[in-house]
Amino acid sequence: MSWFGEGFSGRPEQVWRAPGRANLIGEHTDYNQGWVLPFALDLGVTVAAGRRGDGVLAIRSRQAPGAPADLPLAALAPGAVTGWAAYPAGVAWALREAGHPLTGGASLAVDSDLPPGAGLSSSAALECAAALALDGLHGLGLPRPELATLAQRAENDFVGVPSGIMDQSASLLSRAGHALLLDCRTGATADVPLDPAAAGLALLIIDTGARHALGDGRYAQRRRECERAAALLGVASLRDVTSPAETGRLADPVLRRRARHVVTENERVERAAGLLTGGDLAGVGALLCASHASLRDDFEVSWPEADVAVDAAMAAGALGARMMGGGFGGSVLALVPAGRRAVGPAIAAEFERRGWPPPAFFPAVPSAGASRLGRADGEGAGTDDNGAGAERG
Ligand code: GLA
Repeated sequence: MSWFGEGFSGRPEQVWRAPGRANLIGEHTDYNQGWVLPFALDLGVTVAAGRRGDGVLAIRSRQAPGAPADLPLAALAPGAVTGWAAYPAGVAWALREAGHPLTGGASLAVDSDLPPGAGLSSSAALECAAALALDGLHGLGLPRPELATLAQRAENDFVGVPSGIMDQSASLLSRAGHALLLDCRTGATADVPLDPAAAGLALLIIDTGARHALGDGRYAQRRRECERAAALLGVASLRDVTSPAETGRLADPVLRRRARHVVTENERVERAAGLLTGGDLAGVGALLCASHASLRDDFEVSWPEADVAVDAAMAAGALGARMMGGGFGGSVLALVPAGRRAVGPAIAAEFERRGWPPPAFFPAVPSAGASRLGRADGEGAGTDDNGAGAERG
């Protein structure tokens, strides 16, 4: 790993790669203790890592060569680190808080092929690659669901973004050719077959170019609205509301719409998982469109470029399309017949007509979750230390 050698002396002891994610369906349901159905992408973050003896967490990023971070582990505290380095530093802090002090420190060399800010969870991928590297270097052997929770804690309590557990779970627990059905209350997971090519279809990510920031307050506001709606309905979380009609008891029209989105979105996740299990990916298209309408009209987190991309995709023959992630910027996911080449150009033409910068397109290939790369020591090459592959058979 020559990149490690540019920032540090010697060779890395371990190299880990954690993917970004797309979300087929189940948006703004994770922090409501509901269900999500994301999958890992073939784009991700690589962390090459080695131990140190000076108690410092030294981090270099190939994407930010002018901003090295050398952080004494003992001084890590929420708010003490800003920018991209806060994510891996937050993971080291969360590990320390959980009783794993990472004695001696670590050198981390980060590289990424995920576009930042595109709603593909580049920050969760960075957290997860750093978590696996620190866990591996220090021989902790923590189970992946626990690493996902620690990475989320880093984001919530160290970086200060109140996100849910979906992105870290997708990055750490996904299996190639499958989406990950995750019950965000119990942590139970199931691998649901998702092989678009085998169905003569393709999943296309459209990066609308509009940029969001989960820390800008609107995401946190949605969370608070959901908590308020749950309290008024007398349930622990909106997960416990089983019929959309029950949301009619909320007098406040805004809270009623927010709750209706969450309740109907949970239903859509369940139906999508059922369709995929039955081999009907095409049937999921209508659910994607219903999810988008609900996020746009009831949850009010869509943005103009996403609405235009969804409409243009559908007019050009897509089977379904919706905004992905927290909202207010980022990417759209479209389900298209494999041979239908008109969808991308149709969206690009609509953007051009409005004078917007051109969108970027990526194929979304349901890929494997995080793994250890190229073990030079020859011990168990092709497997990884945390046993996700072994556990999942
Ligand atoms: C962001 C958060 C996730 C989830 C989505 C919305 O991606 O990081 O936890 O809440 O928004 O579904």
